Amino acid sequence: MINHPPRSGQTNLDENNGPGLFEELLEAAPDAFVIADEQGRIVLVNRLTEDLFGYSRGELLGQNVEILLPARFRDGHVSHRTHFTASPRTRAMGGAADLFARRKNGLEFPVEVSLSPIKTTEGMHIISVIRDISERKRTQTLLAKQAAELARSNKELEEFAYVASHDLQEPLRMVTSYLQLLARRYKGQLDADADEFIAFAVDGAARMKNLIEDLLTYSRVTRHGQNFTDIACNDVLQAVLTDLKFAITDAQAEVKADALPVVTGDRPQLRQLFQNLISNALKFRSGKQPEIRISVLREGDDWLFSVGDNGIGIAPEYFERIFVIFQRLHDSKTHSGTGIGLAVCRRIVERHGGRIWVESQEGHGATFYFTFPVKNTKFFERESDGHD
Ligand SMILES: Nc1ncnc2c1ncn2[C@@H]1O[C@H](COP(=O)(O)OP(=O)(O)O)[C@@H](O)[C@H]1O
Ligand SMILES: [Mg+2]
Repeated sequence: MINHPPRSGQTNLDENNGPGLFEELLEAAPDAFVIADEQGRIVLVNRLTEDLFGYSRGELLGQNVEILLPARFRDGHVSHRTHFTASPRTRAMGGAADLFARRKNGLEFPVEVSLSPIKTTEGMHIISVIRDISERKRTQTLLAKQAAELARSNKELEEFAYVASHDLQEPLRMVTSYLQLLARRYKGQLDADADEFIAFAVDGAARMKNLIEDLLTYSRVTRHGQNFTDIACNDVLQAVLTDLKFAITDAQAEVKADALPVVTGDRPQLRQLFQNLISNALKFRSGKQPEIRISVLREGDDWLFSVGDNGIGIAPEYFERIFVIFQRLHDSKTHSGTGIGLAVCRRIVERHGGRIWVESQEGHGATFYFTFPVKNTKFFERESDGHD
């Protein structure tokens, strides 16, 4: 015969002598169940209680539940218990406090306990469901340590990038200006090789200057980030398109954009983000007339922005690498640049709580996506079919 589980709040613990469904459930439960009467005496425990606490059932029945606590908590627990019995309701024990239980052998372990009152024919009983959270605590501690370590090493790296690039500027300026002086004053006076060597050196110094400036730009994303304000992305986009007017005309590119939302963020950085993505779309164009499309749609808690083009595209094996600082797939002879743009984009997006990635088929254009949490958004501007 199947014993039905007790109706909510009504049970008689002694009703069945054989193992009813209720007892079987208790035995199979993945947590320790301890049922005590109004005086705090243990009347029923399940198998996991025995495993977890190292007592046999016989040792626990009739004892006060305080036997399961470290000695220093026992007195306090008695009064908590009295309080609970006075106004019983299902709740987690201890609020935000860390709770500990004690094994028979004296070892303590962290637990989570939830308490439920049940009415029985023998008065009120309290079910405590006890879960050993040692493993979770260990993982949490480890994660917290790793996060702190990561934050520290990121900060150190950032300091390093900043200091290095900043301090490298001065000697480089010296090298550059004397090289330029040499080039001006001695051009044609030494032999042809000398002119060429000096030209290489001037060129190298100029490239190094760009790299150092980029490194500074990169470390400034977090170092000199501004406070977040409300930003109409439409305005930012228009400003960027104005900046890129000549490049757009030059490439005879067609730029289409959705109506964009107003978000909360760092205005210069948002501008930099759009600027980098759109100028890449122009730069890495194919033989076709460039078409660039800026779109946005709402996806759950995020805005999903995209900047798509019909340019040369990117092979999948480079989808990750292009976001790394100074990583480029093209040399500076065919396409100018240092490979900082997308690394900066990623930093900017991440600083705003979003993610950035690319989807592309080589030869068929690339689409860069980035998300932006909607909680940074104040309102969405009029819906429209966009503006070119
Ligand atoms: N829209 C795009 N289409 C194709 N390739 C792109 C596009 N945007 C970026 N890339 C590739 O990613 C590399 C890194 O881009 P970025 O960091 O902006 O550096 P840079 O523009 O200085 O080359 C580029 O060199 C290019 O190879
Ligand atoms: Mg770029």
